[in-house]
Amino acid sequence: MEQFEEELVAALREIVKDGNWQYVGNKCDFHSTCTKLYSEDGEHIVLVHTEDDRFWAMDSSCPHEGGPLDLGDIEDLVDGRRVLVCPWHHFDFCLETGVSSLGLQNQIYEVRVVEDKIYVKTQNKLSLSPIPATNTRSLLGKISADDYKSSPNEDTLCFWATKILCTPDPKEKVTLTLDVQERWNSGVMTVVGQATPPVQPSRKDNLTVLQPGRIKRGKGGTQASRIALLHSLANIEQWAIDLSWDIIARFSSVRLKTGEPLPRQFFNDFVKVAGDEAKHYHLLETRITELGSFFGALPVHNGLWQSATDTSQDLLARLAIVHMVHEARGLDVHPQTLSRFAARGDCSTVEVLEVIYKDEITHVAAGLRWFTYICSQEERDGLSTFHDLVKQHFKGYLKPPFNTEGRKTAGMTEEWYVPLVKPSS
Ligand code: FES
Ligand SMILES: [Fe+2]
Ligand SMILES: [Fe+2]
Repeated sequence: MEQFEEELVAALREIVKDGNWQYVGNKCDFHSTCTKLYSEDGEHIVLVHTEDDRFWAMDSSCPHEGGPLDLGDIEDLVDGRRVLVCPWHHFDFCLETGVSSLGLQNQIYEVRVVEDKIYVKTQNKLSLSPIPATNTRSLLGKISADDYKSSPNEDTLCFWATKILCTPDPKEKVTLTLDVQERWNSGVMTVVGQATPPVQPSRKDNLTVLQPGRIKRGKGGTQASRIALLHSLANIEQWAIDLSWDIIARFSSVRLKTGEPLPRQFFNDFVKVAGDEAKHYHLLETRITELGSFFGALPVHNGLWQSATDTSQDLLARLAIVHMVHEARGLDVHPQTLSRFAARGDCSTVEVLEVIYKDEITHVAAGLRWFTYICSQEERDGLSTFHDLVKQHFKGYLKPPFNTEGRKTAGMTEEWYVPLVKPSS
């Protein structure tokens, strides 16, 4: 008993002395296994209460594609590790270390229980309910897209971009995209034009679109879970087709601060990106069908479009968040995704993923190229502008491990992303 009291006093002293311990509630407040703790810096935490009455904490946004770990399940693996399994694609994260079996790493936090009070070690304030945002977005880099009106001319790039955005059937989206790409590249269509893209692209009625965080899948390691992963990638590609056409239509009339319009090469590049994304969707959809399922068999999330909405008024922010953050993240998770299919000897899917990966490097490169082009034309510092925009428009920090090689091939050196990683507290 004496030793217990000594330990208790020591723990209390440490908590009082070290301002980085956040009190989050009493033990009796945490009935469920996983509870989301909202953090003032946007990097929310999941507090896990296991059956043996122990508490653990890690970032609640999955390092894979941002899945909601607070809706995950706890599993005991045969090697003795206890893991939190992401509900989206079943990457598991060891409660003790944050390491997943497939090489990703999640940030973990120390948890202390002192006299039934729970403390989590982080410098940011935590709350059981969302913390209202306090920092208003600055207007840095703002290029207004408000004034674009539809053009009556029907054979322009923007007319077709808008038409494709409003096409709900992904197969038709693919066909139209490849058709427009061919006519643009061959010089049959030459006018960029103007149009007002829809607020949200169309989706088929039978596709269940849920808010990110509402999707739960079956157990990992099975064919069903691999189909689910392909389904989620096909969903991302469908949004990627729309994002490519949206950047073309929404920002077609932008004038740089120099008064210059965007060069024609900008449109050539994003038509190429759109064509690649259409090809990716088609390849993945074909694999899903070959594996006995179909696109639309599972619910999908619309998280990627949130970034489009958040950056709809600002071309630099759009390039930064969609192409230099999200698409670069796609390069980071590629090796882990590949290994899941390679481990099962699924060579056809591995080939598809390799094709996609090579193209995606060029998409990050295009985002970076146009971002730095605009910055240099407008005499802004590219790096600091990028860092500021990501802090304004992207929730939380960028998460290692990074695919340093892939990013470097795209021209993105560490100075772009390492300063956006969470500082160790
Ligand atoms: S988002 Fe968590 S495993 Fe894919
Ligand atoms: Fe893609
Ligand atoms: Fe892409």
